[in-house]
Amino acid sequence: MNGGTMNGEDPTSPIAFERRYQGCEDPWGFATDAYEQHRYAQLLAAIGPGPFAAAFEPGCSIGVFTALLGPRCVELLATDPSPTAVAAAARRCAGLDHVRVEPGALPTDLPAGPCDLIVFSELGYYFDEARLAEVVTAVVDRLGPQGRIAGTHWIGRSADHRIHGEQVHAVLDTHRGLTIEHRERHERRAQGDGYLLGVWRRR
Ligand SMILES: C[S@@+](CC[C@H](N)C(=O)[O-])C[C@H]1O[C@@H](n2cnc3c(N)ncnc32)[C@H](O)[C@@H]1O
Repeated sequence: MNGGTMNGEDPTSPIAFERRYQGCEDPWGFATDAYEQHRYAQLLAAIGPGPFAAAFEPGCSIGVFTALLGPRCVELLATDPSPTAVAAAARRCAGLDHVRVEPGALPTDLPAGPCDLIVFSELGYYFDEARLAEVVTAVVDRLGPQGRIAGTHWIGRSADHRIHGEQVHAVLDTHRGLTIEHRERHERRAQGDGYLLGVWRRR
């Protein structure tokens, strides 16, 4: 879960992500890396079979998790600021008519209606802590009364991260609109990294 850095530009800007996808179809190895497959399987197990009436997955990248989540949803909106990633995700989900893949970035581009599931994965560290709190507030505002946010964050260090994965989950843990329902910590001793998984319910 280390996509590297870009030369001389803010690596968390939309143009930097677009450039990254133009340079490599799958910069993080989401479709091929055993670590990523494990992460997706654990996340799916934690959220359960659904069905989710209205799910939202911002930062969907090339849609590898989107295609796994789609069958559990009645409607799924997946967004990403990178047009190249959106095109790849749309191709990957072509057989899933109830899955919409659109360009969009947090915190501005949000679904119109309430969601029962929002996936917030490997995304929080692209904001500083104050901005992340605003992003989480915007996302919580789109949760229905029984809605849940679920996500994972890597606990390694990367030059393109503004904050650490532990801080991301701490922001979610302490947000006044959320209460933690489930958490997991997966460590890879040999690499000295791993990921956190959390499921938060609307308070
Ligand atoms: C590391 S990938 C995570 C992909 C996927 N969520 C997962 O867990 O496998 C981060 C993605 O977030 C997108 N992204 C960056 N800034 C964003 C923002 N402000 N709002 C939504 N997505 C953003 C990037 O384009 C990139 O595709």
